[in-house]
Order: sequence, then structure tokens, then C-alpha cells
Amino acid sequence: MNPKKLTGEKAAEFISDGMIIGLGTGSTAYYAIKKVGEMVRDGLNVKAVPTSKETAELALEEGIELIELSQVEKLDLTIDGADEVDPDFNLIKGGGGALLREKIVAAATEKLIIIVDESKLVDKLGDFLLPVEVTPFSWQYTQKMINKMGGSSEIRKKDGEIFVTDNDNYILDCDFGKIEKPEKLTIDLNTIPGVVENGIFAKMAEVVVVGHNDGKIEVLY
Ligand code: A5P
Repeated sequence: MNPKKLTGEKAAEFISDGMIIGLGTGSTAYYAIKKVGEMVRDGLNVKAVPTSKETAELALEEGIELIELSQVEKLDLTIDGADEVDPDFNLIKGGGGALLREKIVAAATEKLIIIVDESKLVDKLGDFLLPVEVTPFSWQYTQKMINKMGGSSEIRKKDGEIFVTDNDNYILDCDFGKIEKPEKLTIDLNTIPGVVENGIFAKMAEVVVVGHNDGKIEVLY
């Protein structure tokens, strides 16, 4: 059984009637969104804030009612994937390029549920290159500043062209080696002019649902 599908479906069990939910982005979040669609068709009443254009499209196809973040005080829960998860629930996100909206939605959420297959669990963050969203106006300058902080970075490309995010920004994929202090690095990166947001989600997750290849599901608190 597909561990991504299992975790998506398990996380959907946390949703109850009347909730405002956040919908994550990526191949694992996909299964949670499909499950929410099924639940909505069975009568569940929820409103959802999507974390990307891709997720908004899928949610609409599934018949899930969307709402703007600005229309709500807070979200009850958000289900999203991650690229790496450490034992303290620090995350790297943004492999799919949706990190900015994902972080805003996560910050506005009471309960962030992260869904991953077992390959995403690490002792320390940093094997996965850290995505940093930067403004196109100054991306080379920002890259130099990031490199001065001890990272090396590459501008993300897709089909030979610079990848553009849903917010019309670029992404630098940064190598800081093993990240010893995720909370410090996220603050330091966000003080660099031109950095819009970075993909470290330090201690934002409340629940991590892990799908194992043998079909077992673990819910970690
Ligand atoms: C999107 O930008 C990301 O933050 C995803 O949530 C993350 O990359 C996990 O994606 P997968 O579930 O596809 O691995």
C-alpha cells in the first residue's frame, strides 16, 4: 500500500464538521485533499485555504469550498507534506516551491499535521537542499549574502528556465550542510534583504503522521 496515501487518509481523520482547514501542496498532500473531497461528498462541511495554485485547482475539482486567508481569524488545522522532519519536528519544506504560502498558512493554523513517508525522517535537517524564496529584483545579491552566511546555493530551474513561484519570486536551493540550529538559521536567513521566506519550519508542527513501507502508520505527537 502506498505510504503517502495512507498518511493522507489518516490525517484527514483529524478533520471535523465546521472546521476551517489548510490544504498543503505536493504528492503526499494530494492524497489528503482527495480524501477530504470524498468526505465533503459524503456531507462534511468544511472551508479550506489552499497553499498553492495547484492545490486550489485540485480542491475545486474535488468540490471543496475555498476561502481566502484574509476572511478568517485562524485555521483549525492544516495538513501538509514535508521534505525532511527531525526528531524535534523541525521541517524542511518547499521542494515543490510552495513554501511561502505554506508557512503563512502554517503560522495561521492551530494544529499543523505533517504527513510523510518514512524516507523523510532524519536525525538532523540539511541533506535536502533548503529552499529559500527570493525576490527576482535582487536574487544574485541575495545569493551572495546567503553564500557569505556559509551556504552555497543554486537558482532553481525548470525546463531550463528559472522556476517562478506562485508569488512571482525565485527559489535558491541552499546547502548549509547539517543544520545544527534550525531556529537560528531561519531567523538569520529572513533578515537578508531580498529573502522573502525560507523552507525551515521550526517547531511549527504539532502532529507528524509517518507512513512506513510495510503499510504501518505512526502518529507522533
Ligand atoms: C511544497 O513546496 C513542499 O513544501 C511539499 O510539501 C514538500 O516538498 C513535500 O512534497 P511531497 O509530499 O511531494 O514529497
